[in-house]
Amino acid sequence: MDKEIYNLIRNHGKELMQSEGMQSQKEHMQHGTISVYQHCFAVAYTSLYLAKCLHIAVDQEQMLRGALLHDYFLYDWHVPDESHKWHGYSHAAVALENAARDFELQKIEKDIIEKHMFPLNLTKIPKYRESVLVCIADKICATRETLFCRNNKKQKHREGIRWNVE
Ligand SMILES: [Fe+2]
Ligand SMILES: [Fe+2]
Repeated sequence: MDKEIYNLIRNHGKELMQSEGMQSQKEHMQHGTISVYQHCFAVAYTSLYLAKCLHIAVDQEQMLRGALLHDYFLYDWHVPDESHKWHGYSHAAVALENAARDFELQKIEKDIIEKHMFPLNLTKIPKYRESVLVCIADKICATRETLFCRNNKKQKHREGIRWNVE
């Protein structure tokens, strides 16, 4: 865990992470044993980490906020419901609508949320380098969570420590 990035998220993402909407995402599972809240934290962390390692200049604050809100769809997609039967294709638009309702968004943040499902949403091509990085980080985290965050005690304990975010 890169302490500098971790602290950046904790300091600049505090307002979002403590909001009622984001807190409610702790109740909704994303992949394996990882909640939507933990997933969004992981994607924010990974995006900033990629930018740092690859020496890509980014607007850290917008990228961080966009990543934290990229899956702000606010429902449990595992519960079958007509309203989200096309979840994979539709949740980015729902997340943007919810986020714009609950927070003041800047242009890069909007682009990140709306286009993070590229290439599944083929017509929504990321416009900014921040959006591209979040899009890639999302795939990395989703793959990792799906493959390795199974419901076994040891793994659960390890992931609980890794993404122990309030
Ligand atoms: Fe998503
Ligand atoms: Fe995601």
